[in-house]
Amino acid sequence: MSAENIKKLTVVGAGTMGHGIAEVAALKGYKVYLVDIKQEFLDNALQKIEWSLKKLYEKGVLRDPVETVMSRITPVVNLDEKGEFTEEFAKVLADTDFMVEAIVERIDLKQKLFAYADEHAPSHTILASNTSSLPITEIGRATKRPEKVVGMHFFNPPPLMPLVEIIKGDKTSDDTVQVTYDLAKRFGKQPVVVKKDVPGFIVNRILARFLNEACWVVKRGKADVIEVDATVRYQLGFPMGAFELADYSGIDVFYYVFTAMTGRGFKISPCTLFKEKFDAKEFGMKSGKGFYTYPAPGKYVRPEIPKEKAGKVDPVELIAPAVNEAAWLLENDVATKEDIDKAVKLGLGWPKGVFEFADEYGVDKIVEALKKLKEETGFEEYEPQSLLLKMVEEGKLGRKTGKGFYEYKEVEERRKNTLLIRIEEPIAWIVLNRPKKLNALSPELLKELYETLDELEEDDKVRVVVLTGTGRAFSAGADVTAFMGLTPFKAMIFSKKFHEITLKMEYFPKPIIVALNGFTLGGGMEIAMSGDIRIAAEGVMIGQPEINLGIIPGGGGTQRMPRLTTKSKAKEIIFTGDMVDAKEALKLGLVDKVVPPEQLEQEARALALKLAEKPPLALLAAKYAINFGTESPIWASLPYEASLFGLLFSTDDVIEGVTAFMEKRKPKFKGQ
Ligand code: COA
Repeated sequence: MSAENIKKLTVVGAGTMGHGIAEVAALKGYKVYLVDIKQEFLDNALQKIEWSLKKLYEKGVLRDPVETVMSRITPVVNLDEKGEFTEEFAKVLADTDFMVEAIVERIDLKQKLFAYADEHAPSHTILASNTSSLPITEIGRATKRPEKVVGMHFFNPPPLMPLVEIIKGDKTSDDTVQVTYDLAKRFGKQPVVVKKDVPGFIVNRILARFLNEACWVVKRGKADVIEVDATVRYQLGFPMGAFELADYSGIDVFYYVFTAMTGRGFKISPCTLFKEKFDAKEFGMKSGKGFYTYPAPGKYVRPEIPKEKAGKVDPVELIAPAVNEAAWLLENDVATKEDIDKAVKLGLGWPKGVFEFADEYGVDKIVEALKKLKEETGFEEYEPQSLLLKMVEEGKLGRKTGKGFYEYKEVEERRKNTLLIRIEEPIAWIVLNRPKKLNALSPELLKELYETLDELEEDDKVRVVVLTGTGRAFSAGADVTAFMGLTPFKAMIFSKKFHEITLKMEYFPKPIIVALNGFTLGGGMEIAMSGDIRIAAEGVMIGQPEINLGIIPGGGGTQRMPRLTTKSKAKEIIFTGDMVDAKEALKLGLVDKVVPPEQLEQEARALALKLAEKPPLALLAAKYAINFGTESPIWASLPYEASLFGLLFSTDDVIEGVTAFMEKRKPKFKGQ
C-alpha cells in the first residue's frame, strides 16, 4: 500500500491530541471518523476544532470554508453502556485505511482497542498509536498484524507543531514506516524516523536529560532557578527556560512521562526537585505555582527572567547530558543525526540541533563537562558515550577543527610573526600572539593587524571577525620599548598609525567582536574600544596606564572612552592610570558582557555565528549609521540613516528577509 491510497482515517480518542490530529487530517481533505467513549467528549472536541479552524480562516491560512472542513469529520461513540465496543465502531473500522489512536496512556486499554481494530479493519489498514510513553511492540502484540502497527507521535498542538516521530516497533515493517512517513508529509508535517522502539523516542529522551540537568544544577546549589533559565534563554537561545517550560507544560505531565520512561528502562538519576514539586501539587501555571508563581491557577504570565542573570552556569554543562543522550541514539542506530537535530529543533524549538550545539561548543568541551559531572556525582549516565570519546581522539571537535558531527569548510590557519589568523568560515579569528610580551603592540604587530584587516575586508567567506589574544593578556598596550628615543614628530606618526588601525576597525564593513581574554591596557584598550562588541572574561583588568609613563593615551583613548562611559569616569581612569576589573568595566559600559574565562571562546563564537546569519549589508549600514551618524548633528545623521535605509531596498536580501517572514522560514541572506 502507498500513502496515496489512504483516503479514510479513524482517530480514536478526541482529547487534546486526538482532536488536533483529526483537525490536521480534515484540513488536508481526508475523511475522518473521530471516535471517543462518550458523546459529550466528541461535542467538546468538535467545538474546539471549529474554533481552531475559524482562527486559521481569519488568519488566511485556511481557504476552504470552515463548514467544508468540519463536514469531513464524523463523530462516533465507540462504547455502549456495558463498556463494550459498539457495532458502529466496527463499521467505522471496516471503512478505515489508517487508524491513529490517541487514548489514555494505559497499555491494557490500548491493547484491547488494537485487538478490536485488528479484528474489524481491512487487512491493508495501518494501526498507528500516538503514544509518547508506551512500547509500540507491546501494542502490536495484541494484534495479528504487528507489521502494520506503528508509532505516530504528534506534538501539542498538532495543527501547529510540525514534528511527528514515526516509531518502528520490533515487528513493524519498513513498508508501514514508509507509508506512515509519507502520510505525515501529506499532512504537511516534518516526520523523523525512530528506528528502534526506545522509551521516550528522540525528543523526550533529550528533553529529560536537559531538564534533569537544569534541575540538578539548582539542587546542587550551583545556580538558582532564574539564573539557569536566564542562561537557557539568553545564552542557549531556547524559546523558554527549563523551569519556565516545566511550569508551562505542567510539572505533573513531565513527571508522568519521565516516570513511564524510567519504568521502561531509561536510566537516569532523577533530580528530586521535580518530585518535591509534584508531591506538593505545585504543577506550574495550571496550579498557580510551580518553580515560579502565577497570579491565579491557569492564568499565565510569563516569568520575569532578567538577562543579567545569565552566565552563572556554563551552557556547555547544561547541554552536555543531552548531547551524550543524542550520541547514544546515534551510536545505537535509533535515528540519524539529521533526524535527531530536526527533532529537537521542531519539537523543542531549540535554535540549533543538539549536534550542531556540540560542534559549536566543541566535542572536547562536551566530554570535559561530562567527565567533570561524573567525577562530582559518580552518576553512570555522565560517562561519555564511546562515540564522543572517539571523536575527540580523532580530533573531530566540531567547527574549530572543520569536522565534528558535521563537516565544515576546512579551517584555514595563517600565521604571521605576531598574529595567528584562523578562518573558520564564516568567522575569522585574529589572535594577537606575542604572549611573552603580553601581546604588547609593536610596530610590526600594528602593521600586520592592518594588513590582516585589509585582507579580511574583501574575503567573502568571512562575515564576522573576532579579535582576541593568546596568554595572559589581550594586550598590555603599546610596546614601551619602542618609545625609547622617540622624537615628538615620530611619536606623532606612531599615534597616527594607531589611529589608522582604530579607524579601520570602525570602517571595517563587517562586525568585529573583541574577546578580552586578559590584561587590556593602554593601546590594547584603545583597539578594543574600536571594535563593535566587547566580551570580557571575568577577572580581566582594564585600564589606560599611560599617565604613569608621563604621557596620555595616543590611540584614541581620550576620545573613545568618554563616548562609552561618562567623561568623569574616563577622566578618573585616565588620570589615575588605575585598572578596573571586567565587572566594573561592565557597569561603566566599557565592555558589553562578562563571562567565565572558560566560556569566552564559545560565547564569542556563538555571537559571531548569530551575526553571521544576519544580512551583511544591513549590518554594515547599521554599523556605519551608529559609528558615524552619532558623531554628526542629528539633522545630518537622520538623513544619513534614511539614505542607508533606502539603499537597502535595492538589495536581494530585503526581498529574501520579507519573503522568509511571510513563508515563516529562516531567511538565507547572501549579502547582495
Ligand atoms: N610593552 C612592552 N613590553 C611589555 C608591555 C608593554 N606595554 N607590557 C608587558 N610587557 C612585557 C614585560 O616587560 C615582560 O617582559 P620580560 O619578561 O621580557 O621582562 C612581559 O611582558 C611580562 O610582563 P610583566 O610585567 O613581567 O608581567 P606582570 O604580570 O608582572 O605585570 C602588567 C603585568 C600588565 C601589569 C605589566 O606588564 C604592565 O604594567 N605593563 C605595561 C602596561 C602599560 O603601561 N601599557 C601602556 C603602554 S603605553
